Amino acid sequence: MSEEFLLLNPGPVPLSEEVRRAMDQPMVSHRSAEFEAVYERAQDGLEYVFSESTLDGESTGDGTPLILNGTATMGMEMAVANLTDEDSEVVALVNGKFGRRFKRIADRHADVTPVEVEWGEAFDLGAVEAAVTDDTEMVTVVHNETSTGLLNPVSEVGEVARDRDATFVVDGVTSIGGDEFRIDDWSVDVAVTDGQKALAAPPGISTVYVTDRAIERADGEGAPFYEDIDWHLRKADTHQTPFTSAVPLFRALAVAVEGIESEGMPRRIRRHRRQARAFREGFAAMGLDRFPDPAGPTELSNTLTAIELPEELKGDAGAFFDAVAERNVSISGGQAHLGGEIFRVSNMGNLAPDQILRGVRVVGEAMNDAGVDCDVEAGLAAARDELDQ
Ligand SMILES: Cc1ncc(COP(=O)(O)O)c(C=O)c1O
Repeated sequence: MSEEFLLLNPGPVPLSEEVRRAMDQPMVSHRSAEFEAVYERAQDGLEYVFSESTLDGESTGDGTPLILNGTATMGMEMAVANLTDEDSEVVALVNGKFGRRFKRIADRHADVTPVEVEWGEAFDLGAVEAAVTDDTEMVTVVHNETSTGLLNPVSEVGEVARDRDATFVVDGVTSIGGDEFRIDDWSVDVAVTDGQKALAAPPGISTVYVTDRAIERADGEGAPFYEDIDWHLRKADTHQTPFTSAVPLFRALAVAVEGIESEGMPRRIRRHRRQARAFREGFAAMGLDRFPDPAGPTELSNTLTAIELPEELKGDAGAFFDAVAERNVSISGGQAHLGGEIFRVSNMGNLAPDQILRGVRVVGEAMNDAGVDCDVEAGLAAARDELDQ
């Protein structure tokens, strides 16, 4: 009998039974008291996630979580479009697909200076310091770059932005809810995250944490209609959205964030770190090389792992990916020019240790099927060692 389907893509991630059931309820109006109660539960849970995403139990953050009908790109655009105008200078840090997306969004609204390095490489903080001047109004960065598996140094970049009084907008899409994220300590003004990632909610709903400092800076001029921060804030006060809410997704999000609160953020962060180490060490013990190249304060992601495809599979890894899919597991390849160069697995959400071990085993077996010699037992032993810690 084949094993149950296991989704290990870096989003969307598997949903719990409770989250799935929350979507299968009779419909209510988005202007009803029933809906407002759902929105409030989701807000409370998000407030918890954004302010308690620390390992030391310290709370950070002084702002408001807004919930959006749309994926995280909408939140990225909301931040940029509300807080800049065509004369604004934005410094956009790019070392992967999502850093590039932030730059592309900013290009449509402002005047952008990119700080760009190869995808998968660490930023030179000296170059960041040189690019951000007293005229810079906004700095954008991706915390956990999903396309490469790198954790960018938000704290250090935030210091540079704060020194120059620039608004600091951070994409925490694949870190928030699974890894440490310190809004105040890192000088973050706006943080964006998505339901379908470490929050373990379905795709189609995202959230933006707007600090009081950012709210003061949003003057409303040129704000987009659907993503008007001020309008969203006013409606959020009454536990509603300006336009029709995606009711089933809000219900699912409320249950998902309540689940996070039950686990507790520090515990959840430690679990994600342990599980990422299990993937990393498991793959390394099978002889596979990691892809990204961290340096200085840049680290490897704790929510997803990117591995270089062995030379013999580069550019033609169909046999490997097919062998993974035949085992009823879904993983991701590389994006854009990294297609055919790497593969990526996620440990975001609520995965059990057995599911991590299955990911290691299936990758090893699929490599063997594709003609790459991998010691699956060595990989499993190394992964188990990490999971047992
Ligand atoms: C780092 C990061 N930012 C933003 C996004 C949002 O992408 P989308 O709006 O296409 O879901 C993603 C999705 O994978 C992501 O990983």
